[in-house]
Amino acid sequence: MHLLSAGAVAVLLFGIVYQVSSTVTVIGTYGETLELPCNNGSPPPDDVMFIQWKLNPSESGMMIKKLKGKPFEVLAKDGYSSRVSMMDNGSMFLEALTLEDQKVFICMLVTLQGLLERHVKVVVHKDPTNLELLEQAAELEIGKLAKIGQCNAIDANPAANITWFKNNKTLSHDGEGIVIDDSVQVHAVTGLSTTSSTLRYSAGKGDADASFTCGTLDLAGQPRVSLPVTFTITYPTENVSLKVLSEGVLLEGDNVTLRCVADGNPAPTTFNFFIKGEVKNVVDSDSYTMTNINRDATGEYKCSLAEKPSLEASINLTVSYLNVDLSPSEEVVKKAGDTLVVALKVDSSGDHKVSWTKDNGLLKADQVPTFKNLTYSDAGVYEGQVTLGPLRRVVSFQLVVEGAPVITLLTKRLGEDGRHKVLTCEAEGYPKPTITWSVNGTWLEETPYINGKVSQKITVVPSANLTVYCTVSNQFSQQIQSINVSSLFEEVRMDKQDQSDNGDQTKLAIGIVAGLLLVGVIVGLAYWIYMKRSKQGSWKTGELENGSSEEEKKLEEKVEENSQKAEM
Ligand SMILES: *[C@@H]1O[C@H](CO)[C@@H](O)[C@H](O)[C@H]1NC(C)=O
Ligand SMILES: *[C@@H]1O[C@H](CO)[C@@H](O)[C@H](O)[C@H]1NC(C)=O
Ligand SMILES: *[C@@H]1O[C@H](CO)[C@@H](O)[C@H](O)[C@H]1NC(C)=O
Ligand SMILES: *[C@@H]1O[C@H](CO)[C@@H](O)[C@H](O)[C@H]1NC(C)=O
Ligand SMILES: *[C@@H]1O[C@H](CO)[C@@H](O)[C@H](O)[C@H]1NC(C)=O
Ligand SMILES: *[C@@H]1O[C@H](CO)[C@@H](O)[C@H](O)[C@H]1NC(C)=O
Ligand SMILES: *[C@@H]1O[C@H](CO)[C@@H](O)[C@H](O)[C@H]1NC(C)=O
Ligand SMILES: *[C@@H]1O[C@H](CO)[C@@H](O)[C@H](O)[C@H]1NC(C)=O
Ligand SMILES: *[C@@H]1O[C@H](CO)[C@@H](O)[C@H](O)[C@H]1NC(C)=O
Ligand SMILES: *[C@@H]1O[C@H](CO)[C@@H](O)[C@H](O)[C@H]1NC(C)=O
Repeated sequence: MHLLSAGAVAVLLFGIVYQVSSTVTVIGTYGETLELPCNNGSPPPDDVMFIQWKLNPSESGMMIKKLKGKPFEVLAKDGYSSRVSMMDNGSMFLEALTLEDQKVFICMLVTLQGLLERHVKVVVHKDPTNLELLEQAAELEIGKLAKIGQCNAIDANPAANITWFKNNKTLSHDGEGIVIDDSVQVHAVTGLSTTSSTLRYSAGKGDADASFTCGTLDLAGQPRVSLPVTFTITYPTENVSLKVLSEGVLLEGDNVTLRCVADGNPAPTTFNFFIKGEVKNVVDSDSYTMTNINRDATGEYKCSLAEKPSLEASINLTVSYLNVDLSPSEEVVKKAGDTLVVALKVDSSGDHKVSWTKDNGLLKADQVPTFKNLTYSDAGVYEGQVTLGPLRRVVSFQLVVEGAPVITLLTKRLGEDGRHKVLTCEAEGYPKPTITWSVNGTWLEETPYINGKVSQKITVVPSANLTVYCTVSNQFSQQIQSINVSSLFEEVRMDKQDQSDNGDQTKLAIGIVAGLLLVGVIVGLAYWIYMKRSKQGSWKTGELENGSSEEEKKLEEKVEENSQKAEM
C-alpha cells in the first residue's frame, strides 16, 4: 500500500508518463535461481526514485520494492516471500524455480518523468532426471515383432523426445518391423513430464549382435544415450554343411575331424554322421574324428540333424598317398663295363611326376636311368624326385664305377720354344690312377680327375733319343706304355713341316721319309764304325754317364731307333 501511494504520488506530481515495454522472455533452470532484469539489461535511469516488482495485474500480487539508496523490502506474503531478492540495478532474483514460476512479472520504475513498466516472462526448463531402458526382452525370435523395451525420460520440461537406435543408427517407426509408441505423463505436483517410448521390433538373423539404445537431446543440444542392450536372436536351422577341419591334402596316417555346421540359433546339439555306411550319433558336439586314416577312407561322407534328418550335407574326401621305393638306394659300387638296373617303384593316389638329377644337374630324361655298360662318367649321386600335387618324395643312390687304370692317350709334342718336348699321359680308372714317368722331366700340370679321367703333362729336354714309359696305377693294377722321343735336333727338322711330332707315324711327306732313310742309315753306320774303332768314345749325353759298355749299348739302340724313324 506504500507502493500504491508512492505511485500515486508520482503520478500526481509529474503527470502520467506511462510506458510499457514489449515482453522480455527469460529462461531459467528448474530448481535454480533466475535473474529477472528490470530494464531489459540496461541500468535503470539515473533519476529513478524507486523500483517495484509485481505480478501480472490478473494475479495482482506485489512482490518486492526498493527505494533508491535503501535496502529492498519484500512485499509478498505467499511462498515468494522467502525466494525473492533485488539488486541496485533493479533485477529481481527468484530462487528455487518451479514450473509455477512460468508467469509474466512486471517491473515498475518510478522516475521524475513518470512511470515505466517492463514485462518479463519466465520460462522454466528441465532436462530429464534420468534416461532408463526397461523391460528388455531376453530373446528375439526371428521375424516376430517383439518388445525390445521401454525407454523413460523422467521429469523433464518441456517433455523430452525419445529416439531409438540400432547400432547407433536411428530407427523410425514404420508400423511393420519397427513400431514405436510414445506417451507423456505429467506429474500432478511438479508438472514435470515423463516421456515413455516403447520399441517393438522384428529381428532378422543379422541382428544377432545388434545393440539397441534410446536417447534424447538435452536442452543444450547434447545427446544423452542409454546403456546398450543386445539380444539373442533365435531361429531354426535351415542349412547344414559338412566341413573338414584340417588344412591341405589328406594323407594316410592323418587324423580327420568332420564338423557338421548348422545355421540355426541356438545350434542343434545332436547330429548323425554317416561314415562308410555306418551311422554315428554324436551328442553335445558337432564333430566326428577319424584317426589314422588310410587310402580306404576316400569316399563320400554325410551328416544330418538328428532331430530333422532331412537337413543333411555331404562331402567327398580324398586321401592322398605317395610311397616311393628306389633300388639301389644307397651307395652302389660297380666295375666299368658292368650293367646296373635301377628300379623305382611308386605307389600313389594320382598322376605323379618323376624327375632325376645327377650331381645336382637335371637329367634330360625323366625316366629311370639305365646303365647297360657302365663308364666312369656314369659315376655320381643320382636323385629321383617324385611329386603328386603338394606331396614330394626324394630318393637317391650313389654310383661308384671302379676299374683298373687304362692309358687312353700318350703323346709328345714340341714345346713352343722348340727346345723341349711336352709329353702327355692320360689315363682312365677308379680310384684315381697315379701317373709316373720313367724320365726326370719338369712337371707341367695335372688335370682335375673328372669322370674317371686324369691326364698329366711333363716337359723333357732329351739330349738323346729316349724311350719314355708312362705308368698308371691304382689299387687294382697298373699299365705301362712307352713312347719314343727323339733328341731335339732331329725333331726340329721334322717339326718345320708339322708343329706336332705326335704324328710321326702319319704326317711325314714320303720324299722326306726316303731322304731320311738314307741319311739315317749312313749316319747310323758312321757312328757304329766310329764306336767300333774307339771304344772309349768322347761322345756323351747328360743321361748316359755310366760305364762304357752301357753307353755303347745305348748308342746302339739309338742307331736302331734312328733307322726306324727313318722308316716312318
Ligand atoms: C545486476 O546486479 C547483479 C548484482 O550486482 C548482477 O549480478 C547482475 O548481472 C546485474 N544485472 C544487470 C542486467 O546488470
Ligand atoms: C520434440 O519434438 C518436437 C517435434 O519435432 C519439437 O517440437 C520439440 O521441441 C521437441 N522437444 C524437445 C525437448 O526437443
Ligand atoms: C555407437 O557409438 C558409440 C559412441 O560413439 C560407440 O562407442 C559405439 O561403439 C557405437 N556402437 C556401434 C554398435 O556402432
Ligand atoms: C542355404 O544354402 C543354400 C546353398 O548354399 C543357399 O542358397 C541358401 O541361401 C542358404 N539358406 C540360408 C537361409 O542361408
Ligand atoms: C591322431 O590322434 C591320435 C590320438 O587320438 C594321436 O596319438 C596321433 O598322434 C594323432 N595323429 C596325428 C597325425 O596327429
Ligand atoms: C561325391 O562324389 C559322388 C560320386 O562321384 C558324387 O555323386 C557326389 O555328388 C559327390 N558329392 C559332393 C558333395 O561333391
Ligand atoms: C662297353 O663300352 C666300352 C667302351 O665304350 C666298349 O669297349 C665295350 O665293348 C662295351 N661293352 C659292351 C658289352 O657293350
Ligand atoms: C731322376 O733323378 C733322381 C735324382 O735327381 C735320380 O735318383 C733318378 O734315378 C732319376 N731318374 C731317372 C729315371 O733318370
Ligand atoms: C735319334 O733319332 C733320329 C731319328 O729319329 C736320328 O736321326 C738320330 O741320329 C738319333 N740320335 C741319336 C743320338 O741316336
Ligand atoms: C721305340 O724304339 C724302340 C727301339 O729303340 C723300338 O723297339 C720301339 O718299337 C719303338 N717304339 C715306338 C712306339 O716307336
